[in-house]
Amino acid sequence: MAPIEGPPLPIEPATSLFMPTYHPFQGERWALNIVPLQVCAGYWTPARMIRDMAVLLRREADGLRSWMSMTPMELESQEIGCLLARGRTVVMGMGMGWAACIAALNPAVTTVTVVEQDPEVLAVIDQCGVFAQLPPGAAAKITIRQGDAYRWTPDDGLPVDTLLADIWLGLHKGGRQEEVRAMVANTGAAAVYFWGQEMNIAWRLRELGLPVDAAGIDK
Ligand SMILES: C[S@@+](CC[C@H](N)C(=O)[O-])C[C@H]1O[C@@H](n2cnc3c(N)ncnc32)[C@H](O)[C@@H]1O
Repeated sequence: MAPIEGPPLPIEPATSLFMPTYHPFQGERWALNIVPLQVCAGYWTPARMIRDMAVLLRREADGLRSWMSMTPMELESQEIGCLLARGRTVVMGMGMGWAACIAALNPAVTTVTVVEQDPEVLAVIDQCGVFAQLPPGAAAKITIRQGDAYRWTPDDGLPVDTLLADIWLGLHKGGRQEEVRAMVANTGAAAVYFWGQEMNIAWRLRELGLPVDAAGIDK
């Protein structure tokens, strides 16, 4: 077999946005590992090598599964929502707290409420001091609530401005828009961005026989 010609993949940061420092964690259901060097594809960008990549794993029936990691794919697939968020923002699913950090750093966002069902995930984030690494003004915007994303309603009963939802293991699955619609109904969210949204839109366009482009989305 002929050797592949060309330069090796570059080693690059996963994002130009804020990146907390994470520490290894070993719990009953969850573990946080640091992978020294990993080839990672982006959501929008080409593959590159990432150093010291943190990954959050949960023990499932079929073994350890990655629920969140600091890969370009995970970060790029969430950044649009975080950067376009405004006002009172709810983040469904703590994971590694990255989306909550980026939303809190957005000057158009006034508050960030993170809703997470698993206390062990909250313990990971607490032990890593993720939000304490933010500038104080951004950290002060964040409130954490333990609860079920499908049922959670704002404490004060007022509608939120932005809903960011990422509570799933896989990027795309049928029926996700119905799950998100339930969260929108519960929170009164005026704007929403959910993980895998682009895939769901493309899937729906295909179902309707419409082109997967701006014209198809407009219809
Ligand atoms: C993919 S991770 C979120 C990653 C996060 N967006 C980040 O930037 O780090 C999904 C999280 O949602 C949580 N989760 C799953 N189902 C949930 C539910 N019904 N209610 C609240 N949290 C849930 C999981 O425990 C996990 O912490």
